[in-house]
Parts: sequence; structure tokens; C-alpha cells
Amino acid sequence: MSGKKTVLVVDDEQNIRRILQAAFDKNGWHALTAEDGHQALEILENESVDCLLTDVTMPGMSGYDLQRRVAETHPELPVVIMTAFGTIPQAVDAIRRGAYEYITKPFDLESLKRVITAALDGRGVGAVAKPKRASKDVGRAFIAESATMKAVLETVRQVADSRATVLITGESGTGKEVVSRLLHTLSPRADKAFVAVSCAALPETLLESELFGHEKGAFTGADASKPGRFELADHGTLFLDEIGDIPMATQVKLLRVLQEREIERLGATKATQIDVRLVTATNQELQHLVDEGTFRLDLLYRLQVVEIQLPPLRHRKEDIVPLSLHFLAKYGQENGRSLASISQEAERQLWDYSWPGNVRELENTMERATVMASPDESVLQPKHLPSKMLHAA
Ligand SMILES: Nc1ncnc2c1ncn2[C@@H]1O[C@H](COP(=O)(O)OP(=O)(O)OP(=O)(O)O)[C@@H](O)[C@H]1O
Ligand SMILES: [Mg+2]
Repeated sequence: MSGKKTVLVVDDEQNIRRILQAAFDKNGWHALTAEDGHQALEILENESVDCLLTDVTMPGMSGYDLQRRVAETHPELPVVIMTAFGTIPQAVDAIRRGAYEYITKPFDLESLKRVITAALDGRGVGAVAKPKRASKDVGRAFIAESATMKAVLETVRQVADSRATVLITGESGTGKEVVSRLLHTLSPRADKAFVAVSCAALPETLLESELFGHEKGAFTGADASKPGRFELADHGTLFLDEIGDIPMATQVKLLRVLQEREIERLGATKATQIDVRLVTATNQELQHLVDEGTFRLDLLYRLQVVEIQLPPLRHRKEDIVPLSLHFLAKYGQENGRSLASISQEAERQLWDYSWPGNVRELENTMERATVMASPDESVLQPKHLPSKMLHAA
């Protein structure tokens, strides 16, 4: 297609859709329309859209709910909300959540077109300018259907804007890294670096050089100076995975970095100021490590200003089917297969299984099922699942 920008208009009133579509087309944009939020989400799945313009009061899904969904699935897409005068506080909330701008009804077409033009240019016109979204890490859908995961998502939204440290706990495969990336994506730091480091099993010097960097000659083998991950994450987010594994001596240094907001490369004589949002994750019980004397309590306090607990998948079974469909679509696309739905029997097996490997295991299961299925099959059946998941009827 040409270089035309695409604007998706979502409104339940056909007249408004018509008028706006005509005006936008005339303005040199390519206008698509949807009559409700669900249709809009469907279009977003299949078309490349540069700006979303949505009404608020619509049957089924409100414009705010649509914006929430889009903030997860298409965090880069600017969303403009058409709201009635009386609901501006909600519109401002939507801006806090990352909506681009709101415009109050009744509005004239010229100002609407200016807002859309600015949104398409990525210019900040709102009270809070929407940060540019880093393109590499985003676009991964975050599925949250169960009440507990919805609450997690709400917390992520609430704390994304702040600099508060976040500790994410949960069993292996529950989505700790995904949540850390989401925190970054929804934050004003989204256009800066997201740097992830696994602290697992790294000996002290190596870990410290990794985190804080080193000067030439700081230790044997340090033949050039190197910035650490903290410096690389400056103004962005640093994600320290397996935080329970860091050696005691490194914990002291980390504590100091958090308190003083400056780092010292190994072998350096002076410190550098840094502005980093620290997110850490662990599948261990840090309080146990504190009791055992292998983790500092003062560091734990610093790390868990906000704590996000990700429940195991077996405690939030409502997520199983939506996640399965999400992964089937993802791997179906990659492999040219089209398992698009799940049979009742297969659903029962998925539901009854305990998922010790949590979402990662579910993802692997759906990838495997996609490959097992023949190209003409469209429904996931028990035969596509590993035998350990099948129980006698
Ligand atoms: N809510 C979710 N929506 C979509 N995908 C998810 C969700 N949660 C987890 N995943 C996917 O499941 C896989 C495992 O997630 P992730 O790597 O974040 O888990 P983890 O808790 O960090 O695991 P580990 O402790 O083993 O490192 C990833 O591929 C991730 O994309
Ligand atoms: Mg992980």
C-alpha cells in the first residue's frame, strides 16, 4: 500500500463513522472503522494501524476498556479518546495509562484532525506526553484473564510511572520476565534501555564487573575498561533476575548503589551518578534466605518497595484457555498451521493438568501441538497433547 497513514475510527454511531471516515480520507489518511471494541481489536490483529480514535460509551466494551487492551497489545499505538465533557477525570486516567490524548465532544473536525496529525507524528500534545515505546520489546501480548492476573496488571500500571523498585516473585515460568518488560514498556522510560542480567551462578567478581563495569587492569584479564549494566541501563530499567543468588559482598554494593544512586566501576577512583529503575525477580523465598543468613534484610526492604507475586498457573486456571489460544495463534503463524480453537475434551485435559512448569510449559505444549497437527486441522484435540496430560475418562 501507499505511504498513507491508517486511522481506525471506533464508534457505535454509523453516522459519526461515516463523517469521520470521509473527512479523514479527504485529509489523505486511510480510514478504517469499527462499530465496537471487539471489532476494533480484530482489525488491529490483522491490519497495520497508525492511530486509534475511539468513542467512550459503546455497547460491549467501553472506549476506556479498549484503550486498556490496546495498551497491552499495541503499546506503541497512539489512542485518542472522544469523551463527553463530564467524564474528563476518566480521560485523564486513560492518559496516565498511556492514551495519547482526549478530545471533548462536541468538537470541530479541524481540531480533531490536528490532534490526530500530532498523534501520527508522535508529538506530545497531552498533559502527559506519551513516551515513545521501545519497539523491540513490545508487541508481546500479555494475557491476564483471571482475577489475580488482572490485579497484577493493575499494579503494574499503577507503579510503572514511578521509580520504585519492584520485586517480582513466582515459580519458574510464571511470567516474571514478561512482567518486568511490561513495567518498562508502560513506564516513561520506555524509550530508554531495558537491560536484563541473570545473577544466577555468577561468581562475585564476574557479577560485579557485569553490573558495575570495570576499569582497565581492575583484575586479571581486565585488559580494557568496560561499562557495567547499570550504566547501560541509565535512564532506563535494569532487570536483575535470580536476585536470590547474589553473593553477600555484592549485596552490600548493590545496597549502596540503591541508596546513593551512583556506581563505581571496579578499579575506578570516582563514582558516576545513575538513574535506573531497578526491577528484580526470584523464584526463591527471600525471607527464608534472610533467616538462613544468606540474604541481607536491609537489601530485601530496598528491593521490595513494590512486590508483585505471580501465582502458579494451577491457581489461575481461567488463564489457561486464553493463553493456549494466544500461543496457538503465535505458533500457528510461525508454522503455517491454523489450530484456532480447542475441543471440549482437550480443554478439560488442559484444565485438569497441574502445569508444574507454568506458562512456559503451556507455551511449549502449544508449540508442540501446532507442529503435531496436520495443516488441515483447525481444532486442538487431546491427541495433540503429551500423553502425561491425558487422564483416563
Ligand atoms: N501472562 C502472559 N501472557 C503471555 N505470555 C506469557 C505470560 N506469562 C508468561 N508468558 C510466556 O511464558 C514464558 C515464560 O515467561 P517468563 O520467562 O517471563 O517466566 P519466568 O517467571 O521469568 O520464568 P523463570 O523463573 O523460569 O525465569 C515466556 O515465553 C512468556 O512470554
Ligand atoms: Mg525468567
